[in-house]
Amino acid sequence: EVPEISAGEARSVAARRVKIGIYFATWWALNVVFNIYNKKVLNAFPYPWLTSTLSLATGTLIMLISWGTRIAKPPKTDFNFWKALAPVAVAHTIGHVAATISMSKVAVSFTHIIKSGEPAFSVLVSRFLLGETFPVPVYLSLVPIIGGCALAAVTELNFNMIGFMGAMISNLAFVFRNIFSKRGMKGTSVSGMNYYACLSILSLLILTPFAIAVEGPQMWAAGWQTALSQIGPNFVWWVAAQSVFYHLYNQVSYMSLDEISPLTFSIGNTMKRISVIVSSIIIFHTPVQPVNALGAAIAILGTFLYSQAKQ
Ligand code: 3PG
Repeated sequence: EVPEISAGEARSVAARRVKIGIYFATWWALNVVFNIYNKKVLNAFPYPWLTSTLSLATGTLIMLISWGTRIAKPPKTDFNFWKALAPVAVAHTIGHVAATISMSKVAVSFTHIIKSGEPAFSVLVSRFLLGETFPVPVYLSLVPIIGGCALAAVTELNFNMIGFMGAMISNLAFVFRNIFSKRGMKGTSVSGMNYYACLSILSLLILTPFAIAVEGPQMWAAGWQTALSQIGPNFVWWVAAQSVFYHLYNQVSYMSLDEISPLTFSIGNTMKRISVIVSSIIIFHTPVQPVNALGAAIAILGTFLYSQAKQ
């Protein structure tokens, strides 16, 4: 017999689904815009350490203003909160800068094809580092994920080792970030939006000295002049757009993560990559070979099998 639920309960379940659906659609749309402007900027100004830093700095500024003007309620945090956040911020910083370096070296679509392998990293990290075991079908679903990514990588026309490794490192770092973010959010009253804001602030503090050491103001000034002379004043708007959209899409993704499991988050994230891959191939006229597209399709199909197997 089907347990009865009241009309009120049914309404709240439906309302929650609609809310998560809206979060997902907004997250994907904002992410497509971010990826396009980020790549336009990187094509003209190949300094991923600075563009990564500017994204975090813009997020920090947006949130400090929102808290200052009470548009958003500032979170109540203590030393322990920031201490627990530190490893998450290290993972966020590594994952972010690695993905941006990757996109500065290869097509956006290639970075995201490799990043569609994130669920495989999630299983391997959970298995070997957290000692969690899974049913056999979950392990089997890794075969198409890893095989599809491998096929796409070896048939990629513009393969570049730094581009490939950047996306792989980003996968590993973000798996840690997601698992520990979810744990961190559970234990506090800090909302998804404010949790991501604190994460941006701490990541900005971590990243800035490294960005200065690796690239530095001299390179940035020279590169900035070159980009401005090539693109014109619009270049500044592209930088602003990539930075603002980076913050917005991540903020919405954390508002979703607050409501769903890290697994559902990973699945939503992989589905997001389909829209990013397709739109970036169209906008940047990325050449694709059929066998390369087949690899991507197998990897993404593998993610769906994984989600089915894991439920
Ligand atoms: C970044 O710069 O952080 C990446 O482009 C984001 O990757 P994601 O698609 O996993 O959020």
